[in-house]
Parts: sequence; structure tokens; C-alpha cells
Amino acid sequence: MNEMAVVADLTGQFRNLLMDQLSRVMEMEENSRPPKNFRELSRITVGICPGDGIGPIIMEQAERLLRVVLRDEISAGRIVLKPIEGLTIENRLQKMEAVPEEVLEEIRKCDVLLKGPTTTPKGGSLESANVTLRRELDLYANVRPVSVPEEGIDWIFFRENTEGEYVLGSKGVEVPGKLSFDFKVTTEPGTRRIARKAFDYARDNGKDKVAIVTKANIMKKTDGNFSRICHEVGLHYPGIEMEDWYIDIMTANLVNPEIRSQFQVFVLPNLYGDIITDEAAEIQGGVGTAGSANIGDQYAMFEAIHGSAPRMIEDGLGDYANPASLFKAVVMMLRHIGFTAKANGLEKILEECLETEKSVVVTGFPEGATCREFADYVIGKLD
Ligand code: IPM
Ligand code: MG
Repeated sequence: MNEMAVVADLTGQFRNLLMDQLSRVMEMEENSRPPKNFRELSRITVGICPGDGIGPIIMEQAERLLRVVLRDEISAGRIVLKPIEGLTIENRLQKMEAVPEEVLEEIRKCDVLLKGPTTTPKGGSLESANVTLRRELDLYANVRPVSVPEEGIDWIFFRENTEGEYVLGSKGVEVPGKLSFDFKVTTEPGTRRIARKAFDYARDNGKDKVAIVTKANIMKKTDGNFSRICHEVGLHYPGIEMEDWYIDIMTANLVNPEIRSQFQVFVLPNLYGDIITDEAAEIQGGVGTAGSANIGDQYAMFEAIHGSAPRMIEDGLGDYANPASLFKAVVMMLRHIGFTAKANGLEKILEECLETEKSVVVTGFPEGATCREFADYVIGKLD
């Protein structure tokens, strides 16, 4: 193809992307519905997808934990745990679908999903299962709490989860051997709804400050608008102060013990949120220790913050994987579906096991405890 034909082809591709994104904006504007009220449901179905790598190992223990915590509700039929098969890298590659259609159908039949980490191939065209699920189920708020009580750190990150750098991450264009483009998308309704989630949380939890974190000095359109929209939303929350920060200096601030405990609630675009929440989790004790909630108005998915750790499996260390991150996701799920007291109880036990008592410690190596031993320790403390 000559160069002009390539330009015409790529322009056509961009036009289609633009049209798709405009219809997504229209859909968001037209289809916004009040959030599902779990307390009113007579039955809540929790889907369980173990995932890849260490996923099945940590999920086995998370499911055991759930079966103990929700014993009565499960026997009364109020809660149904529904194992879902097929969200594996082998099946996904074989079908060349990020989330095979029949798996997605099963997932949609649930009210919430507890998901183990899934492997994402680098390059190629298979999209990450996480990205697909977040988009298909419209899980627009990625909520990640991090706390270090002895330092007074109590952070919560509201990462935009369906657009930004991710929405067209597998739809970039290139002129091979010459150049490549990826796209970042910020929409008005997409930003407004994540900002509302962050400010609602601040208001309902006695916080008085929200940090809006972007790189608006460089990404002038997408981050510039993200910041502006957050400010517009924040004006409706009197008493909550808004602070603008750039992502680079905020990344530095989080490792500055002099100032880091002053931050409370963060709202930020997708990719910055992805990166800084790994940093924050590391400050808490490692990515194995942080839970992650993906919240939409009609559906929610709870998962570990980390990946499937294929290297641990290759090295034969799978049994030493830390289930703490997924256990924290279980706490967030219990809270989301209305079991506040059970969530608080389990949270307290996890704090004891991970921060104060530490009688059984998982290190990822045979010198430490196994995943199952840690689960026994936690379960032993329940009632
Ligand atoms: C996360 C993960 C995912 C992401 C990957 C697995 C696609 O890193 O949940 O933070 O980039 O969002
Ligand atoms: Mg990440």
C-alpha cells in the first residue's frame, strides 16, 4: 500500500473509533440507573472465577472462608455461591476471546463476582480479561483502600476503570516500521460518575479532602478535562476540599513519610490509578495484601490487586502464594452486598493476622507459611 492509502485506511479506522466512543457516551447518558439495592434482594448470587496461575490456589481458600462467614445465609438460600469455569488463559486463547461468550453469559447471571487473577498476554490482540469484564459489566469505579495504621495512613483510591488509556488499549493503529498511535479517552459522563463515587465516599466517611491526580500539564485534553470535571462535581460537596496534584509528584509523595499520611481520598484516571495503587499496596506490605473492588451501578467484581504470578507456578511455589489480597476483596464484597457487620468482623481479624499478631506469615517462599495454613489461621479466629 502506498503511504496515502495507509493514511486513508488509518483515518477510516480512527473515524470508527470516534463513532464508537460517541455512542458509548450517549449510552452512558441515557442508561444511567440507580444502583442496585442488595438489601432488597431475596437471593444474591456470587460468581466465583478462579483465574490463572496462583488464582485457583488462593481462590480455593477464599471460597472456604466465604463458606464459613456466610454459612447461615448459604444454608438459608439467601446467598448462592456459583463456580464459573472457563475463564482460563488456555480457553481464552483457544477461542481467541478475552472472555469467552458462554463464560460471560454465566457471569452476567450473578449479582457480583469474586475473581482470581487472569493472565494477560503481552502484545498480540487478545484483550485482558479484566479490561473486558470491566467494560462489559460497566464497572466504572476501581476502589482500592490501603492502610498502615501505625503510620496513620488511611488511603482510598478511586481509579476510573472503563476508559482513559484502557478503553482503546487494544485498538491502536500503526504504520509498521514507522510509527504507532494509542488512544486515551476521557468522557464527560465517565468522569462525572467516578468523581461522584469519590466525593460520595469522602462525604459519607468523614473525610474532608479529595486529591485529583492527573498530568494535565501534558495531557491537556484528556487529563485537563478530567480535572475540570472532578472540580465541577466537587463543588456540590461543601466542606470537602479539592487538591490538584500531578501524578509524578504524587508518586514521590507516597514514599515521603513526612507528608504521606495527610492524603485521604484520591480520584484519578485509569492508568495512573493502576500504577500508583501498586505502589501504595507495596507501602502497605506488598501487592499480595491489597484488595480491589470494581464497582458499577448494577454489578460489581472483587479481586486481588495483583496478577497471576506465573513465575511462582513455574518455580513450584504456588502453594506459598499469599491469599490476603483476595481475602481483603472478600471483605469489600461483603460490605458491598450489605453484610456490614460480617465485613467489619473479618476485616478486624485480617488486621490482627497481618499486622499485629502475625503468628502465621506467608512470604511467597517455603520458609513462610502456605496459603492454606494462613487460611486456617484466619478461619480459626472466626466465631
Ligand atoms: C489491575 C491489573 C490489571 C490492570 C491488568 C491485569 C489488566 O494490573 O487490576 O491493576 O492493568 O488494570
Ligand atoms: Mg495493576
